[in-house]
Amino acid sequence: MKITVLSGDGIGPEVTREAVKVLTSVSSVFGINIDFDEQLVGSAAIDACGDPLPKATADSCEAADAVLLGAVGAPKHDHLPPDQRPEKGLLRLRTLLGGFANLRPAKAIPSLLEASPLRREVFEGTDILIVRELLGGLYFGEPRGTKDGGKTAYNTMVYSESEIERVARIAFEAARLRKKKLTSVDKANVLEVSRLWRETVVRVSKDYPDVTVDHLFVDACAMMLATNPSRFDVVLTENLFGDILSDEAAVLTGSLGTLASATIGGKIDLYEPVHGSAPDIAGKNIANPIGAIASAAMLLRYTARHETAAACIELAIEKALEEGHRSADLAGNSPATSTTVLGDIIANRAVEAAAGHSATA
Ligand code: NAD
Ligand code: IPM
Ligand code: MN
Repeated sequence: MKITVLSGDGIGPEVTREAVKVLTSVSSVFGINIDFDEQLVGSAAIDACGDPLPKATADSCEAADAVLLGAVGAPKHDHLPPDQRPEKGLLRLRTLLGGFANLRPAKAIPSLLEASPLRREVFEGTDILIVRELLGGLYFGEPRGTKDGGKTAYNTMVYSESEIERVARIAFEAARLRKKKLTSVDKANVLEVSRLWRETVVRVSKDYPDVTVDHLFVDACAMMLATNPSRFDVVLTENLFGDILSDEAAVLTGSLGTLASATIGGKIDLYEPVHGSAPDIAGKNIANPIGAIASAAMLLRYTARHETAAACIELAIEKALEEGHRSADLAGNSPATSTTVLGDIIANRAVEAAAGHSATA
């Protein structure tokens, strides 16, 4: 496999290093050959060549089987307008790669129940897959801009039926392999685009009679994610709603640092943790690498199609947590494990799991 690694900014390089470490260790046990090509993106790329997605980066990604990204964004570039910011590099990359279905699992991890601010009985057993549409909506809709000399600003939320249908089908297929329940989230009581969203999901649902469907308005969904998260299985929603709801879902594990994502459906798959560059903790070796490492597991599942290798990494994460290893965000008042040491521990547990498998295979 050819993988382009885009560490990006802030804690991006710190967590991505651990993800590459774990991915390399597990892959070598299973004889999966990986060629890594590291390239610049985001603020680091603006510094190096004035462009958050340089041509060399785009070319490398287009020639890869998958892209593993850390995070982009830096306070020193916060003054830039949206179309020149580090984040624009990521948005351009997503468009280039073409993946429109962003899968964001959020699961209550048994050994981490105490890390969540929610009461155990409220969320124990919760296992949600958010399917976030990634290439449409307010992020990309035209027209956008400012007028009246900057005193008025506007963006457009726009979706075509076909954009809704293709991501809905991915969500229904995913639901089929899970608890067969899909909740579509919209704002159909107010927005035309959400009415089309709902009508399209209802129509597509006829092809999946084995999947139970319900529809929620996004405001109510936000409330239920905190009060009754175990009612959800697959949550299908548009770009901005999915961005917000997935960070909210991080309360299930007690930290945004644990959430992973895979973006599929396009030419080249993209894997990135849900969190950002966390400038407040960057450079201290205290960031939680689990979201990045779990994204590498998703890469093995969806791009390498090596379910066993993916499961070994996920098992290793659970094992390390069961043994009590916690990065600072999860440690509370107990002593914390550093980013690099937690990465080492997970890599070791993953190799042990992999060796067990390859010995029995
Ligand atoms: P953020 O996700 O970077 O951080 C939010 C909070 O969560 C912070 O307190 C941070 O310390 C904590 N956190 C995040 N990841 C963590 C980890 N792995 N371990 C421990 N704690 C972690 O969001 P923000 O502060 O709103 O944004 C910072 C920058 O990141 C901005 O420039 C934003 O645009 C960018 N961003 C990028 C991505 C991405 O690249 N995919 C995602 C979100 C935000
Ligand atoms: C995410 C981030 C990005 C998004 C930003 C950095 C463009 O918040 O991946 O969740 O909004 O999609
Ligand atoms: Mn986000």
